[in-house]
Amino acid sequence: MTDLDPYLASFDAEPGYLDWAAFGPLSPAVRSEAQGDTELLGTGRRTSIQLVADHVREARELVAELLGAQADQVVLQPSTTYGLMHAVYGLAGGLLLSRAEFPSLTVAAARASDALGSLQLQWVDPVGGFMSPDAVRSAVTDETRAVAVSLVDFRTGYRTDLTALREVIGDRLLIVDAVQGFGMIEADYAAADVVCGHGYKWLRAGRGTGFAWFGERALARIAPVLSGFRGVDGDLPLDTVPAPSASAQAFSVSGPDTLAAARLATALREIADAGVRSIESVLADRAADVMFFADRYGIPVVTPRDPGRRAGIVTLEPEPRDAAALAASLANHGLTVTARGGRIRVSPHVGTGADTLRLFGDALAAFSSARVW
Ligand SMILES: Cc1ncc(COP(=O)(O)O)c(C=O)c1O
Repeated sequence: MTDLDPYLASFDAEPGYLDWAAFGPLSPAVRSEAQGDTELLGTGRRTSIQLVADHVREARELVAELLGAQADQVVLQPSTTYGLMHAVYGLAGGLLLSRAEFPSLTVAAARASDALGSLQLQWVDPVGGFMSPDAVRSAVTDETRAVAVSLVDFRTGYRTDLTALREVIGDRLLIVDAVQGFGMIEADYAAADVVCGHGYKWLRAGRGTGFAWFGERALARIAPVLSGFRGVDGDLPLDTVPAPSASAQAFSVSGPDTLAAARLATALREIADAGVRSIESVLADRAADVMFFADRYGIPVVTPRDPGRRAGIVTLEPEPRDAAALAASLANHGLTVTARGGRIRVSPHVGTGADTLRLFGDALAAFSSARVW
């Protein structure tokens, strides 16, 4: 029995689920913690309320542990997008980002630029949508003050090399949307300045479980423009409006959802116990299984083959005339994937079993035999 066995055994979603990049069915531990804490919040006892509230501290500490950072630089958020908005609205100067990023970044950047006038967007259209070090090197200018990028691209599954990006951008800020990789792959978070993520996909914690980490350089250079009354040090500020906290707490608006924090903490504990390195190695194998079937039935894969450049997302790009038939075959075989823009995004998790992979193979075989070559 390895440390990973209890984690692997905790996957109990029905066979056919290959859409972890969209939503992660909640883990049994998360479900039972949520039920218990809901009961505690129904008692009307102050100690019970405090017990649940303590999960905020626990969640921040566990996020920090997985990032290799300090807990006081971590602040819980309703979702990833909130964390990214705190970071983006506080920037000035040039912000370089790919037009193909998840809209959490592109929309926040456009809105902040329109509203503040102090932010200039430097859009990049990288080849294949991969924000590689070369793509960033050829786009960065003297005006660039920050680069925003996904750790793992939600469309192609491409994994960004944070260490290499840091070398390319010097001491400019590096803002990372870690949604599609956090807890699943080891990453050089020390190379980043801001890391935002959430618990509702790969971590299996449900919605409301966002978080953001602001490192020292970020705290010094990003203004807490969207800071609310919970973004100050000390008690409730009454009859006075103090300055925002100097810590990452400045990047909060209202009080955190303690039930969501309980779910996040429980999910993160499962990850920490299993070990990210072990999770990454099994996840790489599951992604390779998906690629194996795609290759067998001649369906092109846009995700990089190198396990170091991918995580749990495998994106298939059939011939345009085949896309609908492939999506239909997957659905007919009881498989849940994301079909968008002619591509099929398949995202297994470490607990994806042989039964699901067999269904996947059957679906591809059925599609292939009906295909007109
Ligand atoms: C890369 C990426 N960033 C951000 C989000 C949105 O995150 P949230 O709902 O936590 O704001 C998603 C959701 O699919 C995503 O894939």
